[in-house]
Amino acid sequence: MEGKVAIVTGAGRGIGREIALMMAAEGASVVANDMGASLDGEGNDNAPASQTVQEIIANGGAAIANFNSVADHDSMRDMVAQAAKEFGTVDIVVNNAGILRDSIFHKMTFEQWDAVIKVHLYGSFNVSRAAAEIFRKQESGAFVHMVSTSGLIGSIGQANYAAAKLGIAGLSRSLAMEMSRFNVRSNCIAPSAFSRMIESVPGATPEEKEANLAKRRQQTRPEQIAPLAVFLASDAARDVSGQILGARGNEFYLYNQTRPIRTLHRADGWTPQTVAQQLPKAWATAFTPLERTRDVFAWEAI
Ligand SMILES: NC(=O)c1ccc[n+]([C@@H]2O[C@H](COP(=O)([O-])OP(=O)(O)OC[C@H]3O[C@@H](n4cnc5c(N)ncnc54)[C@H](O)[C@@H]3O)[C@@H](O)[C@H]2O)c1
Repeated sequence: MEGKVAIVTGAGRGIGREIALMMAAEGASVVANDMGASLDGEGNDNAPASQTVQEIIANGGAAIANFNSVADHDSMRDMVAQAAKEFGTVDIVVNNAGILRDSIFHKMTFEQWDAVIKVHLYGSFNVSRAAAEIFRKQESGAFVHMVSTSGLIGSIGQANYAAAKLGIAGLSRSLAMEMSRFNVRSNCIAPSAFSRMIESVPGATPEEKEANLAKRRQQTRPEQIAPLAVFLASDAARDVSGQILGARGNEFYLYNQTRPIRTLHRADGWTPQTVAQQLPKAWATAFTPLERTRDVFAWEAI
C-alpha cells in the first residue's frame, strides 16, 4: 500500500472503516467517504467519516474525509478530483457504501427498489467511472467491490439488494475485462461480518436473536474482511482479476461464476411440447436448488 492513494466509500462504519484503517496503516493515503446515513439510507452525519480520518491521522497516516452520497454522480466525480488534487492520483477504489431496505417482493415499493439500486449499483458505477479515466491514463489501478451472498446464492426479502449486488458483480467482470489492457484489475468480495446491517436479521425470539447476534459479533468481525481487501488492492494481487471472493471470520471463499453446465439438442428443432417432454427429465438433477445462504455454508454464525 506504500505510496498508493485509496478511495474507500462507506468508510465511517463497519467493514469500510476497517478497510480504510488497514490500508492507511499499510501506507496508503485514504479518502474516507461516508455520508453518515442510517441503515435505510436516510440522513446525513459527518461524524463517522471524520472519526475514521481522525483515527488514521492519530496513527500517523494520511487521510481526508468526503461526506457526499455515492448515489450522486457529480459529487463522486468531484470526490475523485478531490483525491487526485490532494494526494496526486488515485490507485484504488473500494466500493463499499451500502444500505438495506428489505421487503418481501410483492410488497416492495418503488422507493425501496430505487434507493437500494441507486446506492449500490449506481454508487459503484459513479466512483468507478470517474476513477477509470485516471486508471487508464496512468496504466494502473485496482477496484474492489463489496457484493453479497444475497445475490450470489439467495435470500428472502432482498430482491432490490440481490439485484444490485449481482449487477455489481457484472460491472466488476466488465471492468476487469475491458481495462486489463491498461493494467487495471477489478475484484469482488462477498463479506460476512457483524455490523449494524446484521443486527436487522430477524431471530425467532428476542432471546434467540440476542444469543445469535452475540455469537456472530464475536465470530465474524469487520476487521477480518480488511486483509483480503488490502491484498486485492495491492500489486501482490497482480494475477487476480475478475474474481469473486468471500470472507467470513477467518475463512476466505472463491466463488464460481456462471457457465453452461448442460446442453440439449434436437436435430429437427423444438416445439414447446418436446421441450416439456425432454428438458425437465434431462436436467432435473442439475437444477440449482432454491437454497439460501445459510443452507450452503458449512457452519452458521447466525
Ligand atoms: N456485514 C455483512 O455481513 C455484509 C454482508 C454482505 C455484504 N455486505 C456489504 O458490505 C458493505 C459494507 O457493509 P457494512 O456491514 O459495513 O455496513 P454498515 O451499515 O456498517 O456501513 C455502511 C456505511 O455506508 C455508509 N453509506 C450508506 N449509504 C451511503 C451513501 N449513499 N454514500 C456514502 N456512504 C453511504 C453508511 O453511512 C455506513 O457508514 C456493504 O456494501 C454491504 O452491502 C456486508
